[in-house]
Amino acid sequence: MAKGIVVYYSKSGNTKQMAELVAGAMNEEGLATECKSVDKVEAKDLLDYDAIVLGSPTYYGQMAGPLKELIDQMVSFHGKLDGKVGGAFSSAANIGGGNETTVMGMLEALLIAGLIIHGDPQGDHYGPVSIGRPDERVKKQCARRGRRIAQLTKKLFE
Ligand SMILES: Cc1cc2nc3c(=O)[nH]c(=O)nc-3n(C[C@H](O)[C@H](O)[C@H](O)COP(=O)(O)O)c2cc1C
Repeated sequence: MAKGIVVYYSKSGNTKQMAELVAGAMNEEGLATECKSVDKVEAKDLLDYDAIVLGSPTYYGQMAGPLKELIDQMVSFHGKLDGKVGGAFSSAANIGGGNETTVMGMLEALLIAGLIIHGDPQGDHYGPVSIGRPDERVKKQCARRGRRIAQLTKKLFE
């Protein structure tokens, strides 16, 4: 059976809430998915999953340091994540505060590692973005993204 993981960094809980919503929807869609804080994950652990989703607060328009550290550790396994399904989401404080550049930064790294990224023509195009605490719109986007990632992963790996 295919498996997924959502890895997040969160200081004040907003990104964690998004992570739980994305992972919850992946599980509901039938893809066994774990949801872990980045401090509980090493790069080699990622080899075990078919779908890898990263979530970060927006820090100066970029991902937070702990997630970048995880990504940099992935170099030891370069090429081994090729063909897995990826995704990313971010929480910021302000509209125009850089949450989409943060999502894109994570997606760029996942693309370099060979992951497959499914865009969304109707929902948040690159990945769910939130301003502060997830509101109803964000909750729907997180659930939608989780479902779509699970559907694609199951199609490819089951
Ligand atoms: C070091 C630092 C840098 C930040 N940079 C930005 C930023 O560039 N744009 C923005 O909108 N919010 C910025 N924020 C606010 C956080 O992205 C925002 O509060 C987010 O919801 C926190 O997520 P969390 O609750 O998961 O920790 C920054 C916060 C910190 C601590």
